[in-house]
Amino acid sequence: MRVLLTGSSGWLGRFLAPMLAEQGHDVTGFDIAPGEYTGIVGSVSDRSMVDRAFSNADIDAVIHAGGLHKPDIVRFRARGFVDVNVQGTLNLLEASRATGVDRFIFTSTTSLMISQAMRDEAFGEAVWLDEAHAPLEPRNIYGVTKLAAEQLCRLHFLEHGLNCIVLRPSRFFPEEDDTLRNLCGDNQKANEFLHRRLTVEDAARAHIRALEMAPALGFDTFILSAPTPFMREDTNDLKRDAKAVIERLFPDAVRLFARRGWQLPESISRVYDSSRSQSVLGVRYDTSFSNILTALRESEDLPFATDRSPDCE
Ligand SMILES: NC(=O)c1ccc[n+]([C@@H]2O[C@H](COP(=O)([O-])OP(=O)(O)OC[C@H]3O[C@@H](n4cnc5c(N)ncnc54)[C@H](O)[C@@H]3O)[C@@H](O)[C@H]2O)c1
Repeated sequence: MRVLLTGSSGWLGRFLAPMLAEQGHDVTGFDIAPGEYTGIVGSVSDRSMVDRAFSNADIDAVIHAGGLHKPDIVRFRARGFVDVNVQGTLNLLEASRATGVDRFIFTSTTSLMISQAMRDEAFGEAVWLDEAHAPLEPRNIYGVTKLAAEQLCRLHFLEHGLNCIVLRPSRFFPEEDDTLRNLCGDNQKANEFLHRRLTVEDAARAHIRALEMAPALGFDTFILSAPTPFMREDTNDLKRDAKAVIERLFPDAVRLFARRGWQLPESISRVYDSSRSQSVLGVRYDTSFSNILTALRESEDLPFATDRSPDCE
């Protein structure tokens, strides 16, 4: 297929573009920033640029991964988020419809499921988050604009039959976290694979799977996150004593973590459940918490990207 990939100069795009090419797709990268995989440098909020991209490359399918995301909140005003994430998505949807594109994959975020109360960890047990979670009350402009863009995708399926798959990945960025500062970066990322992280490679592969499945599914929304080892029944214990739950599931985790000077989380306040992405979309995640334990056990490299030295004991 001839695939228009927005965000082709970004972290995900740099993994996804070559993977798509390896699968035989003809990729046109579209990004406001130049990059190895970006053929068109321009903004998705510029309708004439978008139209030109479609007509020049005779596009069959769109993966819309570009846009402003959470780290951009400090750099852009609300208007910028609306222009790029909402108007930009509408431009791409309308151009898709006008040119007969039959599938559209939108990279959304689990962040839009997090209300301020969840962020403040105001509940007595961990919150179990799957695609049925409601009401959605995003706590910042990033989440609000991603939710609006999701709804535009849904509307384009309803009104025009454009097959749209919305993907809500949890974290896959390599940077240090902006909140918890008490653990070293790799330790924290390893912990997050229990309930709120996936590798960028798994995220990219899931996008390709969505591209294949879109015509069969019509419109659907999927959380992408490494498979959690926890069950819904664990939510009380996770909030109260997460370490005990983890030790029950992975008896040598404490020892393996201690060898590296790492700590298991004392309390977990939310869990993303990606089981629908596995059972309905057919996503296979290569990396989960148990792979990390295997790497620690066998003194191998950690199976996830990190932007700082693993030496943070
Ligand atoms: N990284 C994560 O942990 C994470 C988690 C959940 C969802 N997401 C979503 O996944 C997608 C990719 O994330 P990423 O980590 O690769 O982000 P990134 O910032 O590395 O990449 C986003 C790309 O979009 C481009 N872009 C920004 N404004 C644009 C515009 N107006 N027109 C065209 N391109 C524009 C940027 O130049 C950048 O290359 C984003 O939509 C993000 O919201 C990311």
